[in-house]
Amino acid sequence: MNELHLEMLSSPRWAAMLERDLLPWVEAVADLGDDVLEVGPGPGLTTDLLRQRTAHLTAVEIDPQLAARLAERLAGTNVTVVNRSAADTEFPDDRFSAAACFAVLHHVATAEVQDELFGEILRVLQPGAPLIASDGYDNEGTRLHHTDDLFVPLDPESLPARLTEIGYTDIAVALAEYDFRFIARKPTSR
Ligand SMILES: C[S@@+](CC[C@H](N)C(=O)[O-])C[C@H]1O[C@@H](n2cnc3c(N)ncnc32)[C@H](O)[C@@H]1O
Repeated sequence: MNELHLEMLSSPRWAAMLERDLLPWVEAVADLGDDVLEVGPGPGLTTDLLRQRTAHLTAVEIDPQLAARLAERLAGTNVTVVNRSAADTEFPDDRFSAAACFAVLHHVATAEVQDELFGEILRVLQPGAPLIASDGYDNEGTRLHHTDDLFVPLDPESLPARLTEIGYTDIAVALAEYDFRFIARKPTSR
């Protein structure tokens, strides 16, 4: 991520926005259960919100520096930070009671790797458990914000078909003002 982006994701303004805008949606759509996977915590402001709502949170972060910083900040809490790609976690099948992935997917290198990530999350979720996620719209402002940075936007309209193809069910997409959010579940039987 570029420095400006990182600064914003660590700011009190971002924390307030998550609390005011994203959290009510999370609480309305899903019960997280007691063993949550977070993909792409970055500086960890989303981790701070999620960890208060579950017994244990595993945060998988691909960036070694961000992972090390977060592990240090949250040492001794209910959070375990793992430095690797969430597209290949090595966690057991059917482990997690929910997965969360906020503002991450457009930072994943290609649509193919995004699909691998969706597939891996599906594998490690318990049957019936939800993936809850948010991501940015493809517009001029968001592109500007990602200057010299990865930006691989997802299309919210075609997302339900894409997630169905991967194996998710009960998919709902909500178009919010600055981002879109979606929930999708692992089928209870396959
Ligand atoms: C824009 S930040 C979002 C941080 C946080 N979720 C938030 O909303 O404040 C995206 C994060 O996803 C991480 N990331 C990107 N691809 C990843 C992958 N394949 N596995 C795990 N983390 C990844 C990036 O390193 C970055 O820290």
